[in-house]
Order: sequence, then structure tokens, then C-alpha cells
Amino acid sequence: MDLAGKKILLGVSGSIAAYKAVVLLRSLQKAGASVRVIMTRGASDFVVPLTFEAISHHPVSIENSTNQSWNNHIELSLWADLFVIAPASANLMARMAAGMADDMVTACYLASRAPVCLAPSMDVDMWHHPATKHNIEILRSRSVQIIPVGYGALASGLTGEGRMAEPEEILEFIGRILSPEAQTLAGKKAMVTAGPTKEAIDPVRYISNASTGKMGIAIADALASRGAEVQLILGPVALKPGHPKVNIHPVTTAEEMYQAALQYHERSEISVFCAAVADFRPAEVAREKIKKAGSGLNLKLVKNPDIAFELGRKKKVHQVHIGFALESGAGEAQAREKLEAKNFDLIVLNSLQDAGAGFGTDTNKITFFLKGNKSRKFGLKSKEAVAGDIVDAIESLLKKLKKP
Ligand code: CTP
Repeated sequence: MDLAGKKILLGVSGSIAAYKAVVLLRSLQKAGASVRVIMTRGASDFVVPLTFEAISHHPVSIENSTNQSWNNHIELSLWADLFVIAPASANLMARMAAGMADDMVTACYLASRAPVCLAPSMDVDMWHHPATKHNIEILRSRSVQIIPVGYGALASGLTGEGRMAEPEEILEFIGRILSPEAQTLAGKKAMVTAGPTKEAIDPVRYISNASTGKMGIAIADALASRGAEVQLILGPVALKPGHPKVNIHPVTTAEEMYQAALQYHERSEISVFCAAVADFRPAEVAREKIKKAGSGLNLKLVKNPDIAFELGRKKKVHQVHIGFALESGAGEAQAREKLEAKNFDLIVLNSLQDAGAGFGTDTNKITFFLKGNKSRKFGLKSKEAVAGDIVDAIESLLKKLKKP
């Protein structure tokens, strides 16, 4: 990793993982970056500022308006090529989301013109709390990049999500933003379908499913962070991608998703079919709200286009197709069948039998099935970390392809 000449502002907040920020500081310096450190009051309970001062050879600020340096936050924010906050506590993210500027870290965030990324760190229940999730969504929508948390043993003794990413993972994440050679998918075009589709029955009712789009959005973000030009064809969901360079094409029905996918498929080297497309739609949409007169209702349904199947037939030798299979059983046979039938290069199976996998969860447990009867199982991970594994696989598939 070459970060020579890059200026990085490292914010440290109050979490037991603050000690890992010392390792991160050393790694950033070894990669050639100049690093200045700022801390929250809470962080200084875990690691004394002197530690960071001694290693960074610069003073470490905690308050944004003290005696001699009231506008230090502006200077530091404008100095930085990138602002990374590691660890980012739940409290800090809440203050950032609320737009507060009551210490150096939050003031620098508001004043920053550089890309901002943060590595959350907290206990599993704090991580899953709706308030934390909401704050993360607010920060994402303001282009803050979230470095995926890990899953495992936490300082509290509990096990789950919320561990801060390891310093080397944070370094890699930063490298992808700052160093062009780490933009491993630069020049590549990608298309991702994500979310559910909604098929109207009448003006107020529809057929749909519980997909939140989280997995597909995480893949779109991961592709964009490695430099790909990404078109995200997104069904009706509340979530949005965090990466500012993902192009979003909102759609509602399977037919609209198909038309949008047709438009972007031909020029895309990478196509990821992550959407939970409704396989059927009502043959006719009632003009008026259907009344409940009578003892029952028969709805005639017709088939929707199978987007992955149709585009699989058009696939050229330079294109990689990734599919998903969400199965209620173990699903291995179905996944292998879909791999063949839809001409995927890789299908990602998640089984509803596995706790923590499926719609609406923050985690996923997946198995890859590749051509030639190959497969690979992964442990339970955050959907962002799973997206990283999928994009790693896409990169190695692309390397094996023939030129167009
Ligand atoms: N898919 C698609 N268009 C559809 C249905 C599915 O593009 N109309 C894609 C999904 O995005 C996924 C893959 O095909 O990548 C498998 O989807 P899945 O719903 O598991 O398979 P189906 O072919 O619909 O089979 P079934 O529902 O009968 O299991």
C-alpha cells in the first residue's frame, strides 16, 4: 500500500478499540502518509493523548475552541486528504448525525471537504439498536463511508457484530479511496439489480416480498469503492447506497427492472442479479380498488420476465454474471441448477435455515457455487463484509476471462 504524500486526519473516539488506533497510526505512517490525530474526551480515557502525540509528532486536540487554537478544526479539515474515524463509537456517530460540533472530532467532520470514513466499534446490542442504524443511514446518505464491522468476541464477553475492523482492513479501505492502484476495478462497468419489485393488484394493493435491498446495495458500494462505474437498478426500498459514485435507477415492477437491466447489461463487464424479483404479476391491474363483496377472490397471475435468465442468454465471453439463491431448505441442489440454467459464473446461496441469513438481516451466511462443481462456504458476516468477499470473487473471475 503506497500512501506517500497523503495527508490523513485520524479521529479517535471512546471505545475499547481505541488502542487499535495506535496500530493504525503506525501502519498509515509506514505506508507513507502524514497523519494528524484528534480525539474525543471519551477516547482519552482509553488511550492518553501523549501516546498519539509521541507517534504522530504533532499535538493532539480534543476541544475545538481552547485558548490558542479556536479555528484549528478548520485548518486540520482543509489540510486532510481523508478523514478517518477509528474507532467510531455509537455516541460519536449520533453526534455526527445530529450535526453537533461540540468537540474537535465533530467540528472537523462538519468542516471537512475530504472524504470521510469511519470504523464503528461497539457492543452487539448497541450496533443493532434502531437509533444506531438510523444514524448510520443518515451518515451514509451524507457520503460518509462505513468500514464494515467484524463479527466475533466483544470486550463485554458477548459474541456478535460490532467489533471494529482490524487496522489492516482499515488501511486497505483507505487505500482504495486514496491510491489509484488500489482501484482494482477502475475502468470496469457494473450493473446490480437489488431490492424487491412491486406488482400492482389495484390502486392500493400489490404483490411484493420482504427484500430490503441491503445485500445488493452493499455490493454496489463495494464495486464503486474499487473504482467500478456502477448502475444500481433498485426496487422500492428505504435504503440508499453510501458510495457517492453509485448511479441509482429506481424501478417498481419486474418489467421496469428488466428494461433498465437491458439498457445497462450490454456495456457491463459485471452483472450482479441480487434483486428478489416477483416471479408473477396480476394479469390485469384493477382500475378501482377491489371491494370485498363475495366469499373469495381469484387473482389471475402471469409470469414476469426472468431477468437473469434472459440476460444470461445474451452473455458474452468478457462478461461475468453473479446470481443469488435464497432458499428455504438447504438449497444446494437448487443453487447448482440455477447456476447452470441462468448461465451464472457464480451463484451465492443463502439459506433461511441459517440464523442471521436472509431478508432484512444485517448479516449473511453464504456459500459460493462456481462452474466445475466448485463451492466455498463462509461463516456468518455482516452484509458489507459478504459484499467484499463477492467482489473479491468477481475480480478473480474477471482475471480468468478472455478478452472481448
Ligand atoms: N431473478 C431474476 N428475475 C426473476 C427471478 C429471479 O433476475 N424474475 C434472479 C435473482 O435476482 C437471482 C436468481 O435469479 O439472482 C435466482 O432467483 P430465485 O428467486 O432464487 O430463483 P427463481 O428462478 O425465481 O426460482 P424459484 O423462485 O422457483 O426458486
